Amino acid sequence: MAGIDRTQMEAGLAEFTADQLEEVDEIIGRYKSKPGALIPVLEQVQEVCGYLPMALQYRVAKGLNLPVANVYGVVSFYSFFTMVPRGKHVIRVCLGTACYVRGGQRILEELVHQLGIEPGECTEDRNFSLETVRCLGACGLAPVMVIDEDTHGQMKPAKLSGVIAQYK
Ligand code: FES
Repeated sequence: MAGIDRTQMEAGLAEFTADQLEEVDEIIGRYKSKPGALIPVLEQVQEVCGYLPMALQYRVAKGLNLPVANVYGVVSFYSFFTMVPRGKHVIRVCLGTACYVRGGQRILEELVHQLGIEPGECTEDRNFSLETVRCLGACGLAPVMVIDEDTHGQMKPAKLSGVIAQYK
């Protein structure tokens, strides 16, 4: 893991508002002297900021007086922490068996093409994140994708642009 200097750290925080950063510091302050603080602090910071880029990990490490490598180790170990920003809308494409055999992979490929991102990434305008899942429990509607809380069944590549347009 590359080191990060003060200028890089400040540049990495530029996308967050002063209110968000104040909240981050409050969270750190609340847990500062408590043992086992790291995971709850990271959870709450992620809730406030949406994700945990290196600059935020550095701030948490400094605030809790921990080596930044420890913070990075925890963030990269647990799948509920993310270093990638999340879009306003999360698209999850099912690649479970029923969906796969009915064309789930083609749905995914078309989304990758239309959004210009791979699974696990977020569009530059932060409107969409793309994820894949193994069975959404709606196999009768295969192939299925879910956008936020909405299930879209019997998807076809040709229907995608119309569906996506509802989530701008
Ligand atoms: S396999 Fe896709 S919903 Fe079950």
